Amino acid sequence: MSPQPSEAAGGNGGVALIFELGQEGRANRYLENAKPLETFLPPSLLRDDLPLPDNSELDVVRHYTQLSQRTFGIDLGFYPLGSCTMKYNPRVNDAVATRHEFADLHPYTPDELAQGALQVMYELERSLSSLFGMAAFSLNPSAGAHAELGALLIAKKFFKERGQTQRDKVIVPDTAHGTNPASAAMCGFKVISLPSDERGRVSVAEIGKVLGADTAVCMMTNPNTLGLFEDEIAEIAAAVHEAGGLMYYDGANANAIMGYARPGDMGFDLMHLNTHKTFTIPHGGGGAGHGPLGVAAHLVEYLPIPVVVREGSSFRLDFDRPKSIGPMRSFWSNFAHAARALAYLYANGEEGLKRVSQLAVLNANYLRVKVAEFLDTPYPENCRHEFVASAQRLRKEHGVRALDIAKALLDCGYMAPTIYFPLIVPECLMIEPTETESKETLDAFAQALQTIVERAASDPEALFAAPTTTVVGRVDETRAARRPDLRWRPATGQEEGSRPAPKK
Ligand SMILES: Cc1ncc(COP(=O)(O)O)c(C=O)c1O
Repeated sequence: MSPQPSEAAGGNGGVALIFELGQEGRANRYLENAKPLETFLPPSLLRDDLPLPDNSELDVVRHYTQLSQRTFGIDLGFYPLGSCTMKYNPRVNDAVATRHEFADLHPYTPDELAQGALQVMYELERSLSSLFGMAAFSLNPSAGAHAELGALLIAKKFFKERGQTQRDKVIVPDTAHGTNPASAAMCGFKVISLPSDERGRVSVAEIGKVLGADTAVCMMTNPNTLGLFEDEIAEIAAAVHEAGGLMYYDGANANAIMGYARPGDMGFDLMHLNTHKTFTIPHGGGGAGHGPLGVAAHLVEYLPIPVVVREGSSFRLDFDRPKSIGPMRSFWSNFAHAARALAYLYANGEEGLKRVSQLAVLNANYLRVKVAEFLDTPYPENCRHEFVASAQRLRKEHGVRALDIAKALLDCGYMAPTIYFPLIVPECLMIEPTETESKETLDAFAQALQTIVERAASDPEALFAAPTTTVVGRVDETRAARRPDLRWRPATGQEEGSRPAPKK
């Protein structure tokens, strides 16, 4: 009998490592009669010193299937992780992206043999430009933060060429995502944090205090991370431009405005999109993303290369752009994501995209009003795609924190909302239901949250102990993030009670 996970599991929450499951002679023998590898590969390329485990195919399938069931994803349940837009990704878009005509294209395929794929990139670029009011996009960056860095590199080059190297300050509102100041600092700018007003927004008056000859860029998210539309945006953009600076739009929340408002019309010079949020691409776990970077006409020549251009009825990748900041990713970046995003855009069409935004806003407001019945919502006005609630009162009265509520939600079968962000809301819970969830799901979630809030008064200890139904209970959050122990070393056989070392 092969070792079962429960038998072999060490301190890994009940699942043995694939290495620990291996036993000599267990591997599949389907290919036993096939020609040996030496027939195909020169001896110099063959290794026999890798400590690979000898597992049967069945053990491998069971092992990875069990692992897949020990995590949580949007396919399993509601995932209201504010700012992350964890929504349903229609499978048909994966089918489009994984067509062999796209998936099997070699990155060195000459342009003339890759016309269909180049057309996908071209049409996506044109669609994004028109939907968001920019002159052009580069599809090169592979995440929002990556595009932020690209945009700031563009700004740096732009000012350098104008002899304005004294422009070394980037203004970032205090509601901004952490990647904004991080990207600015990485790019060598000094970060000026701008306080929001009592309405949770940036005011022209406040920004006026920090604008000057040293202003390079003002980075704004609209709607912001409180889910509120920055209604003074036109005046703010005018003031920044008047001071000689550039406006950057963090498009992570673009699912709230599609078809209704365009960053280009609001006065932004640069922007990014997180196609892995706003459109269709599954994200999470730091996996591959896609962060198209858009610019207004005066910055087009700085875009990262390559840029797809159309010449008559054919398409080509343009690398010959002397002012470009250069490539940010190899080859075509995450091309499959571009194909998914275009499929999503075409499937929805203009009206469908407007409906996406309508439903994102409707769902957020529906849930906000329900949650406001039992939790404080510090900005009690119509929100856009997300809203924030605060557990500060529960903390004061019962010692129950946002963290405890988040953990208790896991026991109810939900992913927790984003917590402690934005930083300006004490004991913050940031909830984004997205447009793909039904009223029944939102009702059930609100009910679960209410039950937890009521329990904070009657039985706070139960919340401190949560989660109790997940594979791993409470961990030391800091150590888990900063000092994860992800290493495995082959056993030497010398350890007390150790399993035999895997077969070499
Ligand atoms: C408002 C906001 N800006 C920027 C980012 C960074 O985007 P990415 O995760 O694609 O790097 C995020 C990510 O969650 C975000 O929520």
